[in-house]
Amino acid sequence: VTAPLLVRACRREPIERTPVWFMRQAGRSLPEYRALRERHGFFELAGTPDLCAEVTLQPVRRHGVDAAVLFADIMSPVLGMGIGVELAEGVGPVVEQRIESRADVERLAVTAPDEAILEAVRIVRRELDAEKALIGFCGGPFTVAGYLVEGRPSRDFTRTKALMYREPGTWHALLDRLTEQFVLYVRALVSAGADVIQLFDSWVGVLSFVDYAEFVAPYTARTLGAVHAPTIHFGTGVTKRLLDEMADAGGDAIGIDWRLLLEDVAEERAVQGNVDPAVLLAPWGRVEQSVRDVLEAGTGRSHIFNLGHGVLPETDPDVLTRLTAFVQESTTEARV
Ligand code: CP3
Repeated sequence: VTAPLLVRACRREPIERTPVWFMRQAGRSLPEYRALRERHGFFELAGTPDLCAEVTLQPVRRHGVDAAVLFADIMSPVLGMGIGVELAEGVGPVVEQRIESRADVERLAVTAPDEAILEAVRIVRRELDAEKALIGFCGGPFTVAGYLVEGRPSRDFTRTKALMYREPGTWHALLDRLTEQFVLYVRALVSAGADVIQLFDSWVGVLSFVDYAEFVAPYTARTLGAVHAPTIHFGTGVTKRLLDEMADAGGDAIGIDWRLLLEDVAEERAVQGNVDPAVLLAPWGRVEQSVRDVLEAGTGRSHIFNLGHGVLPETDPDVLTRLTAFVQESTTEARV
């Protein structure tokens, strides 16, 4: 049996066409998701195996994408560390008690992954076609630490940086502990059946590459290095120089947003991306043009088609379906 298309793309093996999936494909762009959300809270959905599996499979059924991405949040693994997290409507993750001191870090427990999430992985893997991949994911150390220190989404992560520069010992203790938890989590996801792990260090672009190398890269390398499956390493708003540091930290595939070019990722890695999600709000002709440009840039190398960041909630789901078929059909023809 051959491995799923996405797995082979990550390994840079020959593939019959370009795989396509979307970050945040499960969620608010889908009416069937919103209907479930009216009756259940976010962490209730994510923490009930049947419901989690259902939401994970919704976009696969509707769009025919080449991968399912496990329905969870980057804050899911920290719930088990004794931190109260709520997803506030229109805001994002809000933490009950911010991490401010070494004592706060010492109170964080490293615990076994939630069995409900692992059960959801098993259900999805059983129901998914063999050629489609199940992606499990984990937040990047900077991005998750940022939410814990700020207490809520932030534009500039000033509190986080202040802690990092003023109390480097506390910072390293915090990242060390998060990394211990993430390693247990991603390994358990793979053991339960996840084919690929993506690490979302979404907000890492606020750091200089020098600070990234000192304060973040060792922890990312430890997490990615612990995964016995292909990995995708993703960040947004990063410069070429920071991108190179991220790639050094790991990832079989590197995920980029629309500010960079696919060619900015060295050919020794697969590359994922990178249409601006806002383009999908335009008429189809404009969407198709952007998709063609990205496919053109990915020709001749291992490319995983995706947006440069998550699907916007206001996106018309029919555009995602059409886009999926377009990528799958046009890249098949190109190789015959
Ligand atoms: O990709 C998928 O389809 C799987 C599900 C997924 C969610 N969160 C579900 C979710 C994934 C991969 C994530 C990752 C995540 N969560 C990231 C990294 C990716 C990125 O977008 O940069 C980040 C930064 C978060 C934190 C987070 N969670 C924010 C900022 C928000 C609120 C804003 C938003 O975009 O929704 C959430 C909530 C969240 N996570 C929702 C979903 C479906 C919406 C919750 C709801 O139903 O109301």
